[in-house]
Amino acid sequence: MANRGGFTSKLGFIMAAAGSAVGLGNIWGFPYEVGQGGGAAFVVIYLIFCFILCYPVMVTEIAIGRKTQKNPVGAFNDLGFKGWNIVGKLGIFSGVLILSFYNVIAGWAFGYIFEMIAGNFAVADKFGEYITAVFKVGLYGLVFMSVTAYVVSKGISGGIERAARLLMPTLIIMMLTLVIYSLTLPNSLDGLSFYLIPDFDKLTPSVIYNAMGQAFFSLSLGMGALITYGSYVNKSDNIISSAAFITLADVGIALLAGLMIFPLIGFMSEGTMEGAARGPGLIFVTLPQIFGSIGGGLGIAAGTTFFVLLCFAALTSTVSLLEVPVAYVVDELKVRRNRAVWLVAGFIFLIGIPSLIGNGYSDFFSTSFITYKEGGQDTDFLSFVAALANDSILPLGGCMIAFFASHIWKKHNLDEELAQGAPGYKGSFIQKYLNFAIGYFAPAVLATVFLFTVLFKFFGVHVF
Ligand code: PHE
Repeated sequence: MANRGGFTSKLGFIMAAAGSAVGLGNIWGFPYEVGQGGGAAFVVIYLIFCFILCYPVMVTEIAIGRKTQKNPVGAFNDLGFKGWNIVGKLGIFSGVLILSFYNVIAGWAFGYIFEMIAGNFAVADKFGEYITAVFKVGLYGLVFMSVTAYVVSKGISGGIERAARLLMPTLIIMMLTLVIYSLTLPNSLDGLSFYLIPDFDKLTPSVIYNAMGQAFFSLSLGMGALITYGSYVNKSDNIISSAAFITLADVGIALLAGLMIFPLIGFMSEGTMEGAARGPGLIFVTLPQIFGSIGGGLGIAAGTTFFVLLCFAALTSTVSLLEVPVAYVVDELKVRRNRAVWLVAGFIFLIGIPSLIGNGYSDFFSTSFITYKEGGQDTDFLSFVAALANDSILPLGGCMIAFFASHIWKKHNLDEELAQGAPGYKGSFIQKYLNFAIGYFAPAVLATVFLFTVLFKFFGVHVF
């Protein structure tokens, strides 16, 4: 077998996997979901999902990857269940879809770095115009995709691991600086209490579905990204503790992002928290306005730091999204890595074009790309792809991966793999919990959430 390369250490793997998890989902998605989901109540539900449901799925993905040392399709074949490789195919398909629109948003964020450096805070009020200037933002997207491809082309240890080791600590330092700064502003405590004191009256079923989708997306689960990264992990590494660390890091960074943004909104709104529920525009519209009102050199420094850190976070995620189809093409179709990287990246950039132009530039792909007869919300192309990939395929994939590992591959095989590198695992409480969660709890909950989400998002049917 050709040498596929691998992570050089346990820490290298943890950094890369945490880098995959920490991304736009944490810094762009999480705060806006919190804002729309009524604050702290969303946070509580989200945390519960991450630890009791997502963590077991993460452990399973890494174990399948390490056992087989293959991409998500090859992994199922290798275990002897070819029919199940459909789960891997679905995962690769959704990864390609996710990267296609994720890169568009990353391109917007990349362009904002230059706007902030130029002190052009007014870009916030013209965000609609900014994203319809498709040649300009398309070029930013192209640059972002090229950097992603460059990192992936350098391989696992020389590219992905190296980038994560450099970018992740920098990101955390930048974030802590901004958190401390935002907590010193007037009215920041109002932001903090909105964020940290739950009001459970605000919990509706759709808040709960969103929290689930958000947890899956944010932890990079359900599409085989962690099967792929797991395939480069050392046999002597401890999967149980690595996965715990990755989950904690991801949740920790999402919480920090909230700690950075809500005090700023408290400051800007003079404590009313108006604007917190703005949705996806939160960091592209509200934040730059805030940096503008801080003004001067300090506003420029804070704004630039924020968008640089956002791009760093996005890059370690786009890299993992690209690695999945690349590993597939390299392992299964025997294409040279370098060539596979550029071909796949180019292809994904092209299928991202409807998402790029579907924000006002092209009527067809914008407001009413999908028009539902009744109930469902009309939506643009980007939101449609996101609803399909993030909210539907990821929970479905997670459900099938957990069910497969426990009942098809069998849980004693899974346990065997998990016990390697984790001496106290057998007979521990965590083993009992994982057996229950992976075998029954996760498949049941995820199947239900998948069904309800599809009925709700695509057919406008409210189950409860
Ligand atoms: N977890 C990443 C984020 O939060 C997105 C992602 C999803 C990356 C799925 C890889 C796989 O931004």
